[in-house]
Amino acid sequence: MARSTWSFGSPGQLVFGRNSVNQLESLVQRHGWKQALVVTDSNLLNAGVVEPVTQALAAGGAIVSIFSEGEAEPSIAVAEASLARANESTPDVIVGVGGGSNLDLSKNTAAAYTHQGHPTDYFGFDKVPGPTCPLICIPTTAGTGSEVSNSMVLTDTVAEIKISGQSEFFRPDWAIVDPQLTYSCPRQIAADSGIDALTHAIEAITTVEFDELEIPPGETCAYDGRYELTTALAERAIRICGEHLEAAVNQPEDLHAKDQMALAATLAGMAFSNSGVALVHAMEYPMGGELHCSHGLGNGLLLPYVMRFNLSTRIETFAQIAQWLGEESVDSEMEMAGRAVKAVERIRESIGIPHRIRDIGGNESQLQSFTEKAIRIQRLFWLNPKSASYDDVYEIYRAAY
Ligand SMILES: NC(=O)c1ccc[n+]([C@@H]2O[C@H](COP(=O)([O-])OP(=O)(O)OC[C@H]3O[C@@H](n4cnc5c(N)ncnc54)[C@H](O)[C@@H]3O)[C@@H](O)[C@H]2O)c1
Ligand SMILES: [Zn+2]
Repeated sequence: MARSTWSFGSPGQLVFGRNSVNQLESLVQRHGWKQALVVTDSNLLNAGVVEPVTQALAAGGAIVSIFSEGEAEPSIAVAEASLARANESTPDVIVGVGGGSNLDLSKNTAAAYTHQGHPTDYFGFDKVPGPTCPLICIPTTAGTGSEVSNSMVLTDTVAEIKISGQSEFFRPDWAIVDPQLTYSCPRQIAADSGIDALTHAIEAITTVEFDELEIPPGETCAYDGRYELTTALAERAIRICGEHLEAAVNQPEDLHAKDQMALAATLAGMAFSNSGVALVHAMEYPMGGELHCSHGLGNGLLLPYVMRFNLSTRIETFAQIAQWLGEESVDSEMEMAGRAVKAVERIRESIGIPHRIRDIGGNESQLQSFTEKAIRIQRLFWLNPKSASYDDVYEIYRAAY
């Protein structure tokens, strides 16, 4: 049954700007938190990125414990360890600091700690039974939008696939986006996370219309399809990526570009976590799980191939995207739409994202297992503007191989 309403979810409060982490001090005071658990990783701890966060929490009067064993694309074992630390330190607020990996870990920990469950209890849609303890997410990459999203992703290292959970209770109570925390990102991480933000915005703005979203009987969906508000946010994010993504990666001294990309990533997160992501993400989860590439890199690699597949159903939107990404206008809308794919390929090339699966260690023999795993993530297929069969997905992987 198609829907006649949409609803928009966001974090309780979104704070944006340089030095915004300092606001933690008054937040702690106002809420009277005594024990804070910071969920992060050793890279960030050693690079001094976590320090302003712990200082502000302590200045507000909280005793701070730190779980610093977070890892990129975190495994279930790491989520168990983070939960154990929470159970030990009994925090009254959990603060995730990092890229999407640590933020997702902090969300999982907040759910499992509050509801005394196991990290795997929250995979799938709407599995968190109620509100969690106060959760603050502070991104240090400009990419995933996890700080505002309803989603958390872990890696099942046995089945070699990324597994996600979506719940309104995964939206942090506070998202504190301080672009200065992204300045220390190495080039590769700025590139991978930047193209992730662009992928989120492009998928968000091309999903099915909210009133045309068909959900099979007995199923539920974490997303609504696109509507005016998600489209407005995604448009702004795409325009910013067009203007600043390359500079943020290729000219590290351009701090304005980095600030803008922090904003774009958050806007894209607000868009996709309501309208949805689709085929790029469904195809990245198995590929990333088997090849251990970063989520952003996998998305960036696949994005133009999926866009080419979707092109015929989204000509008007793609023509607009081409313009927002700085392509020169041409009279033919069809030709302009094709330029959106070219623009993404150009950006991908310029920031150094590989464009073939074989170049990131994939074998042709794996394409079948990627396809079989991707096709099981049907909830993302419902959102794709064009229906995709097993053969379609296989052909897209083949083209990308
Ligand atoms: N929850 C969501 O809505 C959502 C959306 C998209 C992606 N994701 C997930 O997020 C993860 C990817 O997150 P990511 O792209 O932000 O990267 P990441 O969190 O995996 O971080 C990658 C590496 O960069 C390092 N790093 C991060 N910030 C840094 C900084 N400022 N300075 C120096 N080093 C820094 C980290 O220590 C880590 O080693 C994946 O697991 C993906 O599935 C989640
Ligand atoms: Zn993503």
